[in-house]
Amino acid sequence: MFGRLTLREIPYDNPIIMATLGGSTMLLLCITFLIWYHGKWSYLWKEWFTSVDHKRIGIMYVVLALVMLLRGFADALLMRTQQALAEGSAQGYLPPDHYNQIFSAHGTIMIIFVAMPFFIGLMNIIVPLQIGARDVAYPFLNSVSFWLTASSAALVMLSLGLGNFSHAGWSGYPPLSEKYYSPGPGVDYWIWGLQLGGVGTLMTGINFFVTILRLRAPGMTLMKMPIFSWTILVTNVLIMLA
Ligand code: HEM
Repeated sequence: MFGRLTLREIPYDNPIIMATLGGSTMLLLCITFLIWYHGKWSYLWKEWFTSVDHKRIGIMYVVLALVMLLRGFADALLMRTQQALAEGSAQGYLPPDHYNQIFSAHGTIMIIFVAMPFFIGLMNIIVPLQIGARDVAYPFLNSVSFWLTASSAALVMLSLGLGNFSHAGWSGYPPLSEKYYSPGPGVDYWIWGLQLGGVGTLMTGINFFVTILRLRAPGMTLMKMPIFSWTILVTNVLIMLA
């Protein structure tokens, strides 16, 4: 089921990765404990995680984007530190293969899991209010889209300590991303991360396309629609085509 991914893929001998993995696991455990300590699990589950309300889903998208921005920023810090230390004949502290994984993860995360969720979050919060609709056309699908995006983000985060991430850049051009040059499970994370999130984004595209065309308040013709909703309409046509 896990293909090339086995427990042997955990890099126990790499102190940077193991320290990062340990720190992130501790942070996750602390947050889980704090939520449990304050008795907020049931509230979060009922009011947020299973909510189909467009504003709440929008806020969850923005929170996801901010969390992933932290990860992308951490990657950026690692890269800039390496570039500062590796001046002249000095090698710096990151091996080349690890550096390549970091900039591939940084690019993928910043575009797919920061910029896009942030924008989709804004469209969720704003568009139904601007066009006078009670919600989007398919509220449940909207929630599924969000959780697909969040699952893909979690998968990319897992690659932090299990296996490795693709080192073929965020654009994944062949032949660098093919098996010959990328034999490990890294490109698999990249493909699954992008595909799961991509299905979510495609459904968002269809959802907002239908919402804007069919759910505008009486009297709001397309030419009276605010410019932000127009940008969202065009963006969603592009999302569906892409
Ligand atoms: C926090 C400030 C940031 C810093 C210091 C930073 C730093 C870097 C560096 C050093 C690289 C080049 C790595 C290399 O080729 O050796 C890079 C690549 C890249 N960055 Fe950033 N970055 C920042 C924010 C962002 C943001 C906000 C985005 C997009 C929303 C972004 C998107 C990208 C992309 C797409 C690449 C190309 C990755 C690839 O070639 O696969 N970065 N960044």
